[in-house]
Amino acid sequence: MTIQFITTNAGKFAEVSEKLAAASVKLVHLDRGYPEIQTDRLEKVLKYAATGLDDEVKGDYLIDDSGLFIEALGGFPGVYSAYVQRRLGNAGILKLMAGETYRAATFQTVFLLRRGDEHEVFHGDCPGSITESERGRNGFGYDPIFQPQGETRTFGEMSLQEKNAISHRARAVDVLLTHLSATKEL
Ligand code: IMP
Repeated sequence: MTIQFITTNAGKFAEVSEKLAAASVKLVHLDRGYPEIQTDRLEKVLKYAATGLDDEVKGDYLIDDSGLFIEALGGFPGVYSAYVQRRLGNAGILKLMAGETYRAATFQTVFLLRRGDEHEVFHGDCPGSITESERGRNGFGYDPIFQPQGETRTFGEMSLQEKNAISHRARAVDVLLTHLSATKEL
């Protein structure tokens, strides 16, 4: 089975293709963007994007919208994660969290898969906490300031395979694979 992954983020593509290759699903990288609306839920961003992509892209495709939800900040940056990463970066988040002892946060990924005429949505979460400083150079985005629950290292200090064993995105891939095998696509 072949699926096109529409993303401009090479890190996301590397993570998802590594997981899917193990299940014999071939992922093709379609390196292009799509309009992203500002709304209160990741899922709505994908559903809006899909209405445009359905006309423009032939065949099955996958899109990913993810966000970092920090509890002490009321879920911020959440759906604004891309904008905040661009404008404030990890240093800006650490500044907002300065002096805060309650550092719990969750990464969320939502996937939308277009198969035939259907849109299917899959979710993955990873609970953890925001570190006091940036640690590690691996991964991308917020990886150096996010330490998954039960771990002593940030995603930024983990290999792709280590992140893929526990991450929000990897969990969304697992749900997607379970669904594909239940519907006999695999
Ligand atoms: P989007 O899903 O591309 O809109 O991502 C929102 C923001 O969160 C971007 O700044 C991404 O770099 C960041 N982001 C998404 N997924 C991850 C991840 O797995 N680790 C770290 N940052 C991420």
